[in-house]
Amino acid sequence: MTDVRGHVRIYEVGPRDGLQNEATPIPTEAKVRFVALLAAAGLREIEATSFVSPSAIPQLADADALMAVLDRPDGVRLPVLVPNQRGMDRAELAGVDAIAVFTAASDAFTSRNIGMTVAQSLTTFTPVLARARDLGWWTRGYVSTAFGCPYTGHVEPLRAVEVAARLVELGVEEVCFGDTIGVGVPGQVEELTGLTAQAGIPLDRVAYHFHDTRGTALANVAAGLGAGIRCFDSAAGGTGGCPYAPGAAGNLATEDLVYLLDAEGWETGVSLAGVLEAARFVAGELGRPLATKVGQAGGWDPATGAPVARG
Ligand code: COA
Ligand code: ZN
Repeated sequence: MTDVRGHVRIYEVGPRDGLQNEATPIPTEAKVRFVALLAAAGLREIEATSFVSPSAIPQLADADALMAVLDRPDGVRLPVLVPNQRGMDRAELAGVDAIAVFTAASDAFTSRNIGMTVAQSLTTFTPVLARARDLGWWTRGYVSTAFGCPYTGHVEPLRAVEVAARLVELGVEEVCFGDTIGVGVPGQVEELTGLTAQAGIPLDRVAYHFHDTRGTALANVAAGLGAGIRCFDSAAGGTGGCPYAPGAAGNLATEDLVYLLDAEGWETGVSLAGVLEAARFVAGELGRPLATKVGQAGGWDPATGAPVARG
């Protein structure tokens, strides 16, 4: 075992991004259990749901009901996605204290996803983020399609940085670059991270959200770590996708991420066995086997050579 190198935050998106594109309706109680298992596994940031239009994302139409009954353990942040003032009003009523607004590096994507151009979305977020600041809430801003757009293709990294810088100006505590359709590769992560730092955005306020659509997610995490990033998104069970991003397959699986970070000597506070329990639970709710790499192989105990927590 290598010495601990430092802390890396794992921002769990399973209950929100993981479920939002699933056709099988998951009962609210099962979502409550899923979040509880994730918190029990040591995850301290769990994106719980979205206050978006229920017709846009039917799976998360129970957001208000969910937040009303969700256990909120001390020290666990449960951000919710907010697209506009209406979502902010719902978030306030629900008693949340952390939100994520979401835009993209591409107008074609935001137009389909949230019915706004990028510029319009930033205008929409301005009062939302001002209000969140007044309330003392934690805030994150997503820049989706940071590596490529399903409608217009290549995205210039400087465009993603420009949108991130605007979000920081509007007051978000953290920006998160999303590889929404899983096309990015490590060299691009290095380049984007370097340009972000050059733009004056401190890297401790930057996160990455990789999809493993083409098997590059962990390589991208390694590149992000090397470039100084210390927060990565993932979903237990590797679920996820966006209905407005054709071809977007699973998020990086939390179990795969935890395995890598543990073995590399990073400290996360997250138990692999606990994540696997949550991942198996959600796979069961979705009626399919757990198909992630570490979900199938389990962890590995270097003292004995045996797999750990294999299902
Ligand atoms: N919560 C609940 N309902 C909302 C809402 C919110 N935050 N914002 C708008 N609505 C309702 C409106 O009241 C309206 O309802 P009606 O049809 O019954 O009158 C309907 O949604 C459409 O609203 P409108 O203001 O005309 O906007 P739109 O149709 O352009 O939709 C969004 C804009 C942002 C609400 C919608 O595109 C959306 O929710 N997108 C989220 C997509 C998403 O979550 N993607 C995955 C994350 S990457
Ligand atoms: Zn995602």
